[in-house]
Amino acid sequence: MALVSFVLTALAYPWHLPLTIVSFYHPRLTAFVHLSTLGTIGATILGASLQLVPVVTGGRLRAHGAARWAWWCYVAGTALLIVGLWFGWHETLAVGGVLLYLGVHIYVAVIGMTMWHSRRDVTLAHIVVAQVALAVSANLGALLALTKGIGWLGDATIPTLATHAALMLGGWALVTLAGFAPRLALMFVGGSAILDRRLAWLDLAFLAGGSWALAAAGVARSHPTALVGAALLALGLICLAAQLGRVYRKARRTSDPHVPFAIVALIAGLGSLAAIGVAAARSAPASDPMWVVAGWLAIAGCLQTVIQGFLHKIVPFLAWLHHHAPRATIGHPPPRPDSLVPSAHRALELILWTSGVFIGAAGIWLGIPAALDVAATCLGFALMILTLNLLRVAWPIGVRLVRGG
Ligand code: HEM
Repeated sequence: MALVSFVLTALAYPWHLPLTIVSFYHPRLTAFVHLSTLGTIGATILGASLQLVPVVTGGRLRAHGAARWAWWCYVAGTALLIVGLWFGWHETLAVGGVLLYLGVHIYVAVIGMTMWHSRRDVTLAHIVVAQVALAVSANLGALLALTKGIGWLGDATIPTLATHAALMLGGWALVTLAGFAPRLALMFVGGSAILDRRLAWLDLAFLAGGSWALAAAGVARSHPTALVGAALLALGLICLAAQLGRVYRKARRTSDPHVPFAIVALIAGLGSLAAIGVAAARSAPASDPMWVVAGWLAIAGCLQTVIQGFLHKIVPFLAWLHHHAPRATIGHPPPRPDSLVPSAHRALELILWTSGVFIGAAGIWLGIPAALDVAATCLGFALMILTLNLLRVAWPIGVRLVRGG
């Protein structure tokens, strides 16, 4: 689902990125935002966490059947929500919102049951805190979807939207990634490196505190609270970066395919928080481009970049594990997972993607349509390089799945 959404996003960029300087509330832009957030960021996090929560918490995935139902509700709900928003079909939007509500709550229940029987530690705490934000924010999303056609929320619409976005992006997606990233880094580098638990608790406190402060700032329309939220989130990102840096230093490992993506994501994340800080310090109205820059850097610059790096690590690893390693014979060792995608392709993708993100941010801030056209072209090509490479690598596993292997 994430790769299909990446392809659709790549094709849609030229028509949708310019809408960021028309209005953040343009219905087609909101539809496009959900193609990225639900289609790629959400789908990857939900799918990966069904695999990873049992691994990192030492438990066993419960209620497989319910997890499959969650996926069907999620994929149908995402499609209907996007179509409903894009065409302004309020009934379709409402059905999509309800299906997403169901899918997300079934998923939260599955993860909840899995965690109940798991090891209680700081990683589990990240996942629990993230599930709470996801559930609350999905309720707000469903409320927005159900009331869009009747205008029931009135003046409360934009505060509700701001709270929904802050909790989804910060409280759920970022906190989940912060929980998994150090554990995955430890697994990938191997050796004797261990987690610095104090740093891990600190990043959780800062990231969750910052996200809920931003959410409260949305409801209370309080710019000082938004400033505090952005500062706390920045501290959380710094703790997370310190933790990851420590893992790599201890393992004496200099790089991995996902590391350059993680560095770009960190810079964009801090850029997004700086934009929130500037907009809040100036008490800028909701229509100010600085808020849109903040959203753009958070979604495309930070979260989507992390997801790209993650996919570069995990898809070749799964292909290696299920396809290449079992076929290895003496004298014919399997290729290394990291060599399955040529490093030149990865580098070109990262250069195009990073240029697109920052040219896009400048274009939104200064209101330059030509910059957004350049950014859309760079981003589109970057996503095409990513998806073509990953589809090629994942092809043998896909063929086996289709044949029932
Ligand atoms: C349960 C799933 C979700 C539902 C039902 C939902 C619903 C909605 C609706 C209906 C709106 C538009 C409100 C309006 O136009 O008045 C909205 C806005 C928004 N949502 Fe979601 N959403 C969901 C998941 C997500 C996720 C996973 C993210 C991010 C990770 C997200 C981020 C946003 C953002 C940033 C906006 C503002 C978009 C803009 O102003 O252009 N949503 N959501």
